[in-house]
Amino acid sequence: MSTVTIESLYQLFAGVGASSIPSVHETLPVYPLSRPLDIYRVYLADVLAKLAGCDVTLAYDAIQLPNTLPHGDLTLPVPRLRLKGKKPDDQCIELASSFPDDHPLFQKPTARGIYLPIFFNPLPLPQLLLPYIFQRQGSYGRNLDVGLCDPASPNLGRKKVIVEFSSPNIAKEFHAGHLRSTIIGAFISNLYESMGWDVVKINYLGDWGKQFGLLAVGWQRFGSEEELAREPLKHLLDVYARINALFKPEQDASREARDKGLDTTEIESKGLYAERNAFFRRMEDGDAEAMALWKRFRDISIERYVSTYAHRNIGFDEYSGESQVQATTVETVEKLLQEKGVYEEDNGSWIINFDKNGAKGLGVAVVRGRTGTTTYLLRDVAAVLEREKKYAFDKMIYAVSTEQDFYFRRVFKTLALLGRPDLEARVQHVNFGRVMGMSSRLGNVKLLSDILDQTSEAMHEVMRRNTVKYAQVEDPDAVAEAVGISAVMVQDMSGKRINNYPFDITRVTSFEGDTGPYLQYCHARLNSILRKAELDRAELASYLVENPEALDVDVTAKQHCVDLLRLMAQYPDVTATALKNLEPSAILTYLFRLTHQLSSCYDVVKVVGANEGRDVMLARAALYEGARQVLENGMRLLGLSPVDRM
Ligand code: ARG
Repeated sequence: MSTVTIESLYQLFAGVGASSIPSVHETLPVYPLSRPLDIYRVYLADVLAKLAGCDVTLAYDAIQLPNTLPHGDLTLPVPRLRLKGKKPDDQCIELASSFPDDHPLFQKPTARGIYLPIFFNPLPLPQLLLPYIFQRQGSYGRNLDVGLCDPASPNLGRKKVIVEFSSPNIAKEFHAGHLRSTIIGAFISNLYESMGWDVVKINYLGDWGKQFGLLAVGWQRFGSEEELAREPLKHLLDVYARINALFKPEQDASREARDKGLDTTEIESKGLYAERNAFFRRMEDGDAEAMALWKRFRDISIERYVSTYAHRNIGFDEYSGESQVQATTVETVEKLLQEKGVYEEDNGSWIINFDKNGAKGLGVAVVRGRTGTTTYLLRDVAAVLEREKKYAFDKMIYAVSTEQDFYFRRVFKTLALLGRPDLEARVQHVNFGRVMGMSSRLGNVKLLSDILDQTSEAMHEVMRRNTVKYAQVEDPDAVAEAVGISAVMVQDMSGKRINNYPFDITRVTSFEGDTGPYLQYCHARLNSILRKAELDRAELASYLVENPEALDVDVTAKQHCVDLLRLMAQYPDVTATALKNLEPSAILTYLFRLTHQLSSCYDVVKVVGANEGRDVMLARAALYEGARQVLENGMRLLGLSPVDRM
C-alpha cells in the first residue's frame, strides 16, 4: 500500500468507501501528495457542487480551514458559492439537510449561520493519515509542488530566493537585533527550502564605512597582538569602545554645531575626525596597507562567527558584506541615477530628493558623502544589482529590524528611480520588533556566543535540580545547549514578528508554559514511548504502511485522539500559510496546540501497560509516533534541534 502516488492514494480512499474519485483534482490547485486536507477538499467540493448545482472549481475555492477544531475540519462560508435567491442562512440550512448522512469521509453537518462546518468521519482517519505521515517522515509538511506557486505549469523549474540575515557589524556588539535576524532569517530559509525553492543565504557583514576607519585608528593606539590572538572578537570590541570614548567629545561638538545650524566642516577636518576619515579614504582608494589591516580583522571575525553559527546549525552560502560591493557597480548606480535626472549635487555631497521624485515622505537622502566616500544606502543599492547578476534571483528577502523600515523603503524606491521597478518588485523587507533589556538582564552580553553560553548555563542549572533524570542524560552539556538555544528561540518566535518583547531568562528556561524547554520535553517524552514499548520506529512504520487496517482499532474511540489526528492533518496547511506571512509564530502556535492536545491524550491512551492486546498497543504507539514526527518536523523548520532525552 502506498500513499505516494495519486492513483494509490485514491485507491486507499476507495478502500474506506469513498467510491467515486472526483476528477477535479486534475484541473484544480490540488496537492493531495503534499496536503492530506486537499484530498478531503476534493471530495467535499464534489459533494457541494452536486448539492448546490454550482461549479466544482467555485466550490473547491470556497472551502476554508476553520481557526479552531470545534468549528470543524473544513468550513464553507455559503455566500462564497454565489447562489441566487434565498438568504445565505437559509441556503446553509438546506445544504446541511440535503448533505448525505452516510458519506464515508464526512459527518452530516449542522448549519452555523452562514457557515457550514464540516467534520471528518473519525473512523478512517488513522488508516488514511498515519501511513501518509510514516511514508513522508521528514517531508511531511513540505509542499514541494505548492511552493512553486504556479499549478498551471509545475515544471517551470525551481525558483530562487536570496535570504539575507544576521548581518552583524565587525568590531561591534552582536545585539538583540542581530539575534532576531538570525533566528527569523534561518526560519525563512528553511521554509523556502522546504517548499522547493533554491535558497541562497547571505550574511551581509557591516565591514565597511567610517566606523571601520575609527577602529583602525583605535588599533594604532590600543591594539595588542597578544590579546587579538587570545580573544579576537572581544579585543576588537574593546579597542573600538576605547577609541569611541575618545572620539565622543568631538562628535558631540559637531552635533551641537549642526543643531545650531553651523557649518561642521571645520570641526570635522581635524582630530580623530580627520584621522578616521583619512583611514577610510585610504580603504576606499584601495591602499594596500589599510586593506591588509581591514582584511585581517574581517577574516578573524568571520572565522569566529562561522563556528558560533555552526553550533546553531546555521550555515551561510556567502559571507558578503558592505566591503564587497564593487566600485564599478557603485559607478553604474550613480550613472543611472544621473541619467534619470534624480541625482543632485548638494554642497559637495550627492543626494536623492525622494519627495520631489514621486516618493513623498521619504525625504532627502545623502547617497555619496561630502568627503567623497560611499554610504550605506549606495552600497546596498549596488549590492542588489550585483546579486541580480550573480544569482538571477526571483525574490530577495532582508530580515532586518523594524528600525530600518524607513531606510529600506528608500533602498527599494531607489531601485525604481534608477529604472529598475522590476527589481523593486522582487525585494522584500521582513521586519521585526525590539527585544527589551537583554543586555541588562543577561549582564555583559556582547557576542552571540555570550548569549548562547548564558542561556545554556541557565538551562543546565534547571536540569541539575532533577538529579534522577539528570543522571540518565548521556551528554548533559550538549542537551543543555540545545535546550538553552530552544528557550531563547521559542521566546523570540512566540509573538508576531513585529511585536517588541521583554527578555525574560527565568520564564524562557521554565519547563512550564509555552516555552522552548516545554517543547523539547514533549518531544523527549514522545520519543520515550517507543523506547519503553521496545518498538523499533522503522519496523512499526513499515508494518502499518503494509497493514493500515491494523490502525482501525481503538484510537478513534477517544475524542482526544481523534482531535489529535485532526490537528496532525492540518500541519501541511499550516506550513503553506507560513510561506505567505513568513511568521514563525504561525508554526509555533500550531506546535503548542499539538502538544496541549497530546498531554490530554497520555492519561487516557496508554501504550505500555495497556492490557487490550498487541494490536491496540501498536495502533496507539503509531498515533504517538505520528505526532512525534509532526512535532519534530515543525521544530526543525523553526531551526530547533529536538532532543531525544532530557
Ligand atoms: N549591519 C547592519 C546593522 O547591524 C544590518 C545590515 C542589514 N542589511 C542590509 N542590506 N542593509 O544594522
